[in-house]
Amino acid sequence: MTASLRGLRIVVSAGPTYEDIDPVRFLGNRSSGKMGFAIAASAARREADVVLVAGPVALATPDRVRRVDVRSAAQMRVAVLAALPADIYIAAAAVADFAPRHPSALKLKKSDTGDTLLLELVRTPDILAEVAAHLPRPRLVVGFAAETHELGRYAQGKLRDKKVDLIIANQVGMPGSGFESDDNMLTAFDHHGSHALGSGPKTELADALLDLVHERLGDGDATSATDPLAHRQR
Ligand code: C5P
Repeated sequence: MTASLRGLRIVVSAGPTYEDIDPVRFLGNRSSGKMGFAIAASAARREADVVLVAGPVALATPDRVRRVDVRSAAQMRVAVLAALPADIYIAAAAVADFAPRHPSALKLKKSDTGDTLLLELVRTPDILAEVAAHLPRPRLVVGFAAETHELGRYAQGKLRDKKVDLIIANQVGMPGSGFESDDNMLTAFDHHGSHALGSGPKTELADALLDLVHERLGDGDATSATDPLAHRQR
């Protein structure tokens, strides 16, 4: 039987972010949002109270999910923080690491720039690390890592640096996995080791991930972070 998440509030981020260069151009990435949407759909089927913060994607909103659409990393940060407190945060979004320092209000013209154009980029806020440091902290903070190599080493580094509870690593750059694909291959890393979630359709992997989340929350304690009494007890 599927493990219920009834009464728990889950915030999921999904999709890419777009960082504007000017009114018609942006820096983006190839994230489809499918993994995060599958997680949100599975959590809603398990009767959780789900907020899905979605970057620009062409996907239908899953049933019984509250969706907040955003475009940039800065907007995603505001929407995610506004959705707290939560019991669980799952960061499945491919947030841009850098954004143009000075987006132009007018379209950049070739004739104005000559043969080269230098874009100055600044780091975007690390939403996952901020949520992991937020008080009250979600009981479980889960990040994703898309790597082409050395999955384990990078995942362990992210667990430590961002102070999260689980990192779900997926291998990109292989056919049948990662960005744009309907399928994926996932391994969950915690501070003690790893746990293969298997490979297959993202919808099935989302279920396997939420079973693991349920297990990590511990049995019988479905007290919600949105319950004011629960806050005082924390
Ligand atoms: O460090 P890296 O970008 O590989 O970490 C990936 C994880 O961190 C993902 O869960 C992603 O959603 C999250 N992240 C974030 N804010 C950023 C960059 C990444 O929340 N600015």
